[in-house]
Amino acid sequence: MIQAKVAEILDSNQFLQEFEVKGWVRSFRSNRFIAINDGSTINNLQCVIDFENTDEETLKRITVGAAIHVKGTLKESLGSQQKVEIEVTSIDILGDANPEEVKLTILSPKRHSLEKLREQAHLRVRTNTFGAVMRVRSKLSFAVHSYFQQNNFHYVNTPIITGSDAEGAGEMFKVTNFDLKNPPKNEDGAIDYKKDFFGKETNLTVSGQLEAETYALGLGQVYTFGPTFRAENSNTSRHLAEFWMIEPEVAFCDLDGNMDLAEDFIKYVLKYVLDNCKDDLEFLAQRQEKEDQAKPKAERSEMSLLDKLNFVLENNFKRVSYTEAIDILKNSKPNKKKKFNYVIEEWGADLQSEHERFLVEKHFKSPVILFDYPADIKAFYMRLNEDGNTVRAMDILFPGIGEIVGGSQREERLDVLKAKMKELDIDEKELWWYLDTRKFGTCVHSGFGLGFERLVQFVTGMGNIRDVIPFPRTPQNAEF
Ligand code: 4AD
Ligand code: MG
Repeated sequence: MIQAKVAEILDSNQFLQEFEVKGWVRSFRSNRFIAINDGSTINNLQCVIDFENTDEETLKRITVGAAIHVKGTLKESLGSQQKVEIEVTSIDILGDANPEEVKLTILSPKRHSLEKLREQAHLRVRTNTFGAVMRVRSKLSFAVHSYFQQNNFHYVNTPIITGSDAEGAGEMFKVTNFDLKNPPKNEDGAIDYKKDFFGKETNLTVSGQLEAETYALGLGQVYTFGPTFRAENSNTSRHLAEFWMIEPEVAFCDLDGNMDLAEDFIKYVLKYVLDNCKDDLEFLAQRQEKEDQAKPKAERSEMSLLDKLNFVLENNFKRVSYTEAIDILKNSKPNKKKKFNYVIEEWGADLQSEHERFLVEKHFKSPVILFDYPADIKAFYMRLNEDGNTVRAMDILFPGIGEIVGGSQREERLDVLKAKMKELDIDEKELWWYLDTRKFGTCVHSGFGLGFERLVQFVTGMGNIRDVIPFPRTPQNAEF
């Protein structure tokens, strides 16, 4: 691996070692300098070939995109771009890449727009930007598990195909398992998409929370980290139809404990990637700076990517009740000239993204945890406060992202939970197993869900959520 070997050489200063590498050609200049990348690092390794002693056929086949196997000696480089290079002693072409065909793809060495790269999601990982984003994503996944395992949480896998709608928002994709050529019809002769799964109507899960709750009330502290699905308007830069969610759930923990956990967890994973993805983050920071320069002044980021990550690490998140937030919004003057063109809200309304952005980016200039939301705009399972109007919900809002976490203390009182379900017309028979947990040893418990892609967006500075997941599920990417 290029990264490990180059780091070792630079550490020990022991050049002149024999080394071999297999990777893909990024560029080939002057019939002499190959830039090779094996995916381990943002830094290409320069391979210097002795073209007089390399046969013409091989030289012709060293083309952008080709897979090659290079052997040689690692040397200190005289060039300014890199510290180490390889003086090639042998080179094998493992897989050709026809330049005429490469020209038609995003592998061709010129700047392609992110939209264009999305059309070739299977090749875009060979670009610097996607290589960096996906390596950071992978390290973030590791940090997620590492945080929870170190803190004695148990990892549980919750169903993907499920009969319940955890959020009660009706945003589920139905699971169909019928013969598409001969689909079942309803009484009107139309295709009946509500096909059963072992005799039950099912959908793809929107959240593993309800099942995770049952496990927390037995294992104490658990977390899920799996794919979730939402059949909602995913045509924004913050929504995906298929995304990954991290959902811890903790018994004997109230909303304050839940906020502490979320903040501690987020800071841990940020620190982990700052410590372990230095080169990639520096590359992504430079990339964001270049993108910013092309934007109008008002839309540019106020901080560099690395400063922003360090800022979140070093400062406490502001904890503000929903009611206080509404007062702040009501007392602020709408700024029609700039992007914060919010309207003054009345208590009870759900906050729109411009309100969230105002609070985070203009008013507090910090990540914000909003808590105690009106019961009417939140899900059925949230703990009702003594005022009878608000619930122990919390959303964490991040600069440039908006909501990154949604969570709550759960309603542990059977009678209150049943009354709420009745009010919302949720069938008790459908959730009998969930209600059992409130019958047998119920207790205060809390949890939250963090949208993994929104976290990756924040860390990498990528503007569109489709650029932080390997295969975004959109109509244009339906072939995967
Ligand atoms: O706020 P949400 O809907 O909360 C839940 O699903 C709870 N059951 C979580 C829990 O308490 N265990 O979703 C949680 C987070 C959001 O804050 C957001 O970061 C992310 O999931 N999210 C999405 N990310 C990408 N695309 C979408 N369509 C998303 N919908 C939610
Ligand atoms: Mg939410």
